[in-house]
Amino acid sequence: MPIVKIDKSQLTLGMFIEAVEGIWTAERNVGRRFKVEDLTQIEAIRNSNISGIFINTDLGAQSDAAAAAPGPQTAGRYKLSPRARLQEMKWNVQRNLSLAKRLMEDIRTGRQTSPDSFAPIVTDIARAMRENPSLYLGMTRLRAQDTATYTHSLAVAALLWNFSLALELEQGLAELLCLAGLLHDIGKLLIPQAILQKQGPLDPPERRVMESHAEKGAQLLDRMETLPPLLADICRHHHERPDGSGYPDRLSGADLSLYVRMTTICDVFDALTASRPYKKGWSSQEALKWMLTCQGQFDKALLWKFMLSLEPQLTRGIL
Ligand SMILES: [Fe+2]
Repeated sequence: MPIVKIDKSQLTLGMFIEAVEGIWTAERNVGRRFKVEDLTQIEAIRNSNISGIFINTDLGAQSDAAAAAPGPQTAGRYKLSPRARLQEMKWNVQRNLSLAKRLMEDIRTGRQTSPDSFAPIVTDIARAMRENPSLYLGMTRLRAQDTATYTHSLAVAALLWNFSLALELEQGLAELLCLAGLLHDIGKLLIPQAILQKQGPLDPPERRVMESHAEKGAQLLDRMETLPPLLADICRHHHERPDGSGYPDRLSGADLSLYVRMTTICDVFDALTASRPYKKGWSSQEALKWMLTCQGQFDKALLWKFMLSLEPQLTRGIL
C-alpha cells in the first residue's frame, strides 16, 4: 500500500489520511481514515499536537516529495477545482502571514529564532510558486494597511525564490534567499506607525527615520545567533543602488553582492505593483518598463533575467 509519512505542514486538500502520529481529538463525524476535502480540517490538524501524518497516495493526493520521486507514483498532484485551489491559496497566504508576523515579532523582541522556524512558510511559498505563481503574487499584491509589511515580505520572498531558481542557484541558497525576502524589512517593525502609514510624502526628518529601518533590521538579525550573516547583510543593503545613491552605506557597483542586487529588484518590483486601500498598484508590465528606464538604480543585466524569471502572462507586452 503506498503510504507516505508527511509533516502536518505539508497537508493539502485531496490527501487521504490513513493514520496520524500523536494525539488528535478528531471531530466525531470525520472518522479515523478520511480524505481531506475541507480547509477547516487542515486548519484543525495543523493546530493540533499531531507530529506526523500517514497518507495513502492511492486514495488521494500525494505529497510534493512523493510526486517528485521517480517511479509509478508520479501521477501528479490531486486535481482541485479552480475554486478550491483559489480557496487553498488564500488560506495559505493568511496562514503564512500569521506565522511570519509571530516569528518577526519574536526577532523584534530578541527571542532567538532559527531558520527552521520559517520552514513551513518557505515550503508553502515554493509550492505555491511552482503551481501558480500569477495567482500567488496576485494575492500578495492586495495590501491591508495593518499587514502591509508582512504581505510585502511574503511577496518579496516568493519573487526571490522564483528568481533564484531561474538563475539556477542551488536549492539551499534559494531557500535562504526566500528567508532573506521574508526578513529584509523587519526593521520596519521599529518605525513609528505614523511614519510607516503616512500617505503623503515624508519630510526630511521623517525620511531619515524611515530609512533607518535597513540598519535597525540588520541589527536585529545580527543578534540572532542561528541566522546566517547573509540575512543581515541583505537587510542592511537592500536600499543601496549600483550608482551609489542608496543607503545606508552608499555602496556601489561591485560592492553590492548578487544577492543584494536580486533583492533590490524584487523589492522595488513588488512595491510598484502592490495595491493599497488608497492607491492601485502598477501592472507588472508598467513596473518593469519603468525599472528598465531607471539609470543606475538596478543591475540591468540582472533585471532582464528577472523579467525572464516571471511567467509570460506577467511580462506580456514587455519583451
Ligand atoms: Fe526596505
